[in-house]
Amino acid sequence: MNAEELKRQAAEAALEYLPDGGVLGIGTGSTVNHFIDLLADVKGRYEGAVSSSEASTERLKKIGIPVLDLNAVGDLEIYVDGADESNRYLHLIKGGGGALTREKIIAAASKKFVCIADESKLVDVLGKFPLPIEVIPMARSYVARQLVKLGGTPVWREGFVTDNGNIILDVHNLEITEPVKLETELNQIAGVVTVGIFGHRPADVLILGTPEGPRTIIP
Ligand code: A5P
Repeated sequence: MNAEELKRQAAEAALEYLPDGGVLGIGTGSTVNHFIDLLADVKGRYEGAVSSSEASTERLKKIGIPVLDLNAVGDLEIYVDGADESNRYLHLIKGGGGALTREKIIAAASKKFVCIADESKLVDVLGKFPLPIEVIPMARSYVARQLVKLGGTPVWREGFVTDNGNIILDVHNLEITEPVKLETELNQIAGVVTVGIFGHRPADVLILGTPEGPRTIIP
């Protein structure tokens, strides 16, 4: 099975976590795109969705799912999103697609976070995937210097602007053995908008597509 088939499998398995109605939280990325496509069959049950990116918004609208403002709907029953890496405690690295800030907000406002991915995303220690950090543009060099002091190698994602008008630094060479602690520490740097570690708010369920069928991890 190729990676797309494994992502699709994880997306299909996530359907069983859907509530009967209400508003869905929807993430961003190639795995979530499969999930959005699958929603076409059940969309009549839902008032709409809160979306974590312009890209997902467009895809949702295309299949006729209304996209709602989080401020208008309160807490959500469920948030479905992908990840760039997960450890077995479901601490994640996210932001490969640059949507980490809105993703973190929707995850925080959701009662259940179901993460879907192909099996390659499960790792022992986070950090092989460069850690995305969203930064206010004028703070780029300052934040980069602080990241170097912490042992990381930040690389500016040149030419990329987030949906919030900010830039992304991808931090290489971090071995993230204590995700919650590092998330807290990086959040203290002036100019940092959002750190791509989801440690304080990990996923609740991880569904991995594997050649043997979907594997579900609930810590
Ligand atoms: C988007 O900013 C990311 O957090 C995505 O959730 C993550 O990159 C997973 O994307 P894929 O499903 O494309 O691997």
